[in-house]
Amino acid sequence: MSIRLKIGSDQAGRLTMGKCYPTVSEEYKTAVDKARRKLRGLIAEKNCAPLMLRIAWHSAGTYDTKTKTGGPFGTMRCPAEQAHGANNGLEIAVRLLEPIKQQFPILSYADFYQLAGVVAVEITGGPDVPFHPGRTDAPVPPPEGRLPDATKGNDHLRDVFCKTMGLSDKDIVTLSGGHTLGRCHKERSGFEGPWTPNPLIFDNSYFKVLLGGDQEGLLMLPTDKALLDDPVFRPLVEKYAADEDAFFADYAESHMKLSELGFAEA
Ligand code: HEM
Repeated sequence: MSIRLKIGSDQAGRLTMGKCYPTVSEEYKTAVDKARRKLRGLIAEKNCAPLMLRIAWHSAGTYDTKTKTGGPFGTMRCPAEQAHGANNGLEIAVRLLEPIKQQFPILSYADFYQLAGVVAVEITGGPDVPFHPGRTDAPVPPPEGRLPDATKGNDHLRDVFCKTMGLSDKDIVTLSGGHTLGRCHKERSGFEGPWTPNPLIFDNSYFKVLLGGDQEGLLMLPTDKALLDDPVFRPLVEKYAADEDAFFADYAESHMKLSELGFAEA
């Protein structure tokens, strides 16, 4: 697999963040395109976009920038990682995805799970998140305990997202907007309920609801509410609540960064 350096944008004019992406074969690219179509079908049929976004995020969100371990390298395929407490329910995502994965043995699980996250956002009306293939599968999962704890506050979010994963304050807010999709399940996390009235639509309603205060039938985690108490986070929440285009543009960039942690570093 050869490496090409592209700074700024790739040949299709897509954002690349100065990464050094592997060149994959034409056969691999064709498999990505076909798998993308199959994923659209699966997600439409099963209404499972939230679970697909969560598996992509929980795969990538274990990245530790200091040790260069964890991250989006397909280890969620391993029962040991599915058994981490934070991943309760994700064995369902693995099971739903497996029949499609079997059709594309050429693809790495690493690419396939990240592709599922990108398609989940696209198919629910969210922005197009650029996808670059070429991740390889790591042999063993990261240790348990790297994903954020929903009962904690902003210092914890910065420890996980900024210090460990190497992302920014802005990424914390934009990516929290991923809770525009889906819901909490009591039997999986101990929390119950959706964040927004339309949990199968990717829009900026998470930020509107967050600013609007408690609403019957909806839920905000302590880590969601904490965004309102921070002088850097709060103005971004207000901006995204007022301007969905700004949210979509920033979200697409942050999601791509998340999905490429530890991947193709120049
Ligand atoms: C900021 C730190 C975060 C915390 C503490 C957190 C915590 C949680 C918890 C407790 C659940 C409920 C799981 C369940 O009961 O089924 C959940 C669900 C979810 N999370 Fe997060 N999350 C965070 C960030 C993110 C990010 C960055 C994304 C994606 C960009 C994301 C996407 C989702 C989605 C889509 C669901 C719904 C899953 C479903 O409906 O099955 N979360 N999150």
